[in-house]
Amino acid sequence: MSILKEGLPVALCSDHAGYELKEQLKQYLCDHGIPYKDFGTYDSTSCDYPDFAHLCAAAMERHECYPGIAMCGTGNGIAMTLNKHQAIRAALCWQPDIVRLAREHNDANILVMPARFITVEEAKVMVDTFLDTPFEGGRHQRRIDKIPNLKR
Ligand code: RB5
Repeated sequence: MSILKEGLPVALCSDHAGYELKEQLKQYLCDHGIPYKDFGTYDSTSCDYPDFAHLCAAAMERHECYPGIAMCGTGNGIAMTLNKHQAIRAALCWQPDIVRLAREHNDANILVMPARFITVEEAKVMVDTFLDTPFEGGRHQRRIDKIPNLKR
């Protein structure tokens, strides 16, 4: 079962450390007929991951894209940035079981991967898992409802 939403492209973003993996995943999505929107970066020149992560998260908050896939060297910086957005649940994942649980339990809407620590083939398996795993709901819905910062 796919989590893709009719008419909405997958949002992609990375910094320079994730650029090559992002390019490989764009081809992979294209090969599977999955539309995407790339929020950058657009080459391997050194750059700052928040510049692209905020654009990606904001587009998802405007319901222009769903879901998202992001990567930087470790995945940490881009995940930290994405998760500043109230509507975003970005999950840093490095193997398929963690991806599956991020969907089933956390309804993760952005898959974040550590580009310098995984292979392209491992990333493709994680993307498949992410796109094919539904949220379980139930007690997990109650828990994710408590995540937003209510003081804002
Ligand atoms: C870039 O060198 C690296 O710091 C970045 O990709 C990421 O790992 C930060 O969290």
